Amino acid sequence: MEISINKDSKSASLKAAKLVAELISKKPDAVLGLATGGTPLELYDELVRMHKNDGLDFSKVKSFNLDEYLGLPASDPASYRRFMDENFFDKINIDKANTFIPDGLAKDARAHCAEYEEKIRAMGGIDLQVLGIGADGHIGFNEPLSSFSSRTGVRVLAPETLKDNARFFGGDENKVPRLAISMGVGTIMDARKIVLLAFGKSKSEAVEGMIEGPVSAFIVASILQFHESAHVFIDEDAAYRLTRKDYYKWVENANVF
Ligand code: GLP
Repeated sequence: MEISINKDSKSASLKAAKLVAELISKKPDAVLGLATGGTPLELYDELVRMHKNDGLDFSKVKSFNLDEYLGLPASDPASYRRFMDENFFDKINIDKANTFIPDGLAKDARAHCAEYEEKIRAMGGIDLQVLGIGADGHIGFNEPLSSFSSRTGVRVLAPETLKDNARFFGGDENKVPRLAISMGVGTIMDARKIVLLAFGKSKSEAVEGMIEGPVSAFIVASILQFHESAHVFIDEDAAYRLTRKDYYKWVENANVF
């Protein structure tokens, strides 16, 4: 795991955006894995800026999103499809036909999940997966105790997650769907590179468990300790519980990556 501790979310997001842009420059038809939530917004803003000002070209890029609420139509203001269109896809030159997000209204959710996995495989697998982290250590919607080898499937949201995500549903946690479709932990681990972002004190316990804790399905993100190319970009607040902060900074400053 490579840890980058930054003064704020903006500087962390700029570094993460650089990794994404480097990949697209080297491989114009790269397959991105994308995340929703408040955390990746500055990363998307920077990529939009790079598209507008530096000509970063998304025309051949393909993308797969991590998850979608079950039961929400794409047109719902809280759907992840809407989120991605409004915050990213509508602002760059990606071909929408190449942007894949699980269908929250899939009639046969199980078959749909198997097809999603198959599509990822058929496109050559995910080159770079962007991740946030839940306050309970989840990635995608893989909540505590999710199997480390799980594939895309239906997930039950944890009570903390319902509370955390109520802000996207007018503050009412009763309006947050109880179920979602999510890439599995195994699906995420198959990505060639992982870029995880986490900001703020509310994420500090999950970040501590992910980086310094034992690998345990109790903090699902801790499995990233086994990934050969996992890059973690956090701010000082998210890092404040880490015991070996100075060491992580030392390694980053050695500049060998
Ligand atoms: C959501 C999403 C995750 C996201 C996480 C953190 O429930 N399923 O993919 O990383 O929670 O969200 P936020 O970035 O808004 O804190």
